[in-house]
Amino acid sequence: MRADVPGSRDVVTAERADASVAVDGAGPGELPAFEVADVRTGRVPAHVACVMDGNGRWANRRGLPRTEGHAAGEAALLDTVEGALELGISWLTMYAFSTENWRRPADEVRYLMGFNERLLVTRRDELHEKGVRIRFAGRRDWRVPRRVLRRMDESIELTAGNRRMTLTMAFNYGGRAEIVDAVRALVADGVPAGKVDERAIRTRLYHPDQPDPDLVVRTSGEFRISNFLLWQIAYSELVFADVLWPDFRRQHLFAAVAEYQRRNRRYGGVS
Ligand code: FPP
Repeated sequence: MRADVPGSRDVVTAERADASVAVDGAGPGELPAFEVADVRTGRVPAHVACVMDGNGRWANRRGLPRTEGHAAGEAALLDTVEGALELGISWLTMYAFSTENWRRPADEVRYLMGFNERLLVTRRDELHEKGVRIRFAGRRDWRVPRRVLRRMDESIELTAGNRRMTLTMAFNYGGRAEIVDAVRALVADGVPAGKVDERAIRTRLYHPDQPDPDLVVRTSGEFRISNFLLWQIAYSELVFADVLWPDFRRQHLFAAVAEYQRRNRRYGGVS
C-alpha cells in the first residue's frame, strides 16, 4: 500500500522485527495501491535487479508440486517486464537460476531447464516487438543443456539491436563465480599485480557495459542476497518484499521504486 494512505504500513526501520517494506498487498491477493504515475516523476532507477524467490512456497501452500510455482512465476516475470517498460527502466536483471540451484532435486532442475527454454521460445518474439534486448549472465558450462544454450543464443541474436530495455536473465549465475571468472581473465590477460584495480576487475565481469543496480528487490520475505551480483550491488538499495514471486506484479515494482525514492544514497560520502 502507499505509505501516504491512512492505515498503510510505513517503511520498516531496522529496530522493527519485520524488515520488509510495505510493498506487499493490503491483504492476501490484494495489490499495492501504486500506479506508474505515482513514481514516474521521481527518481527512476536505471537498473533494477530482482531475486524471484518463493515459487516453491507458493506451490506448497496450494498443495501443488514446486514446479507449478515456477510455472506461475512466468506471469509475474512478464508483468514485471511490462511495469519496468512503463516506468522507463533501462536495465532489468532477473535471477532465474543460480550456480547453487543445481543442488535442487534432479526433477526440479530438469523442469527448470525445460521451463527456461520454453519461456524463451514462447516469449522472445513479443519481447523483441517491445524493444527488449535479451541477454544472459552466468556460466555456459557443460551442465546447461545444449538446446537451452541454443535458445539463449537465438534470443540474444534476435534482440541484439533493441535498446528500449535490456533484460538480463541471470542463469547458471553466481556472484562469486563471476568474480572468479574475472580473476581468471585477469590472469589469462597477463595483468601484473600492480595493475589490478577495480576497473581491471569491472571490465572483466560478464557485462561491463551494464550500470550497477540502483535497486535490488527480493521477494518472499527472505532477507538474503544468495550470491546475486555481489560485485555490482556494493551501493545498491535493497528492498525486501513480503510477497511470493508468483503473486508479484508491476504494482509491487512501483511500490519498491517508491521506497527507493525515499532512500538517501550517500556512497560513503555525506548528503
Ligand atoms: C535465490 O534464492 C533465488 C534464485 C536464484 C531464483 C530462483 C528462481 C527460480 C528457480 C525460478 C525462476 C522463475 C522464473 C519465472 C524464470 P535461492 O533459493 O537460490 O537461495 P537461498 O537458498 O539462499 O534462498
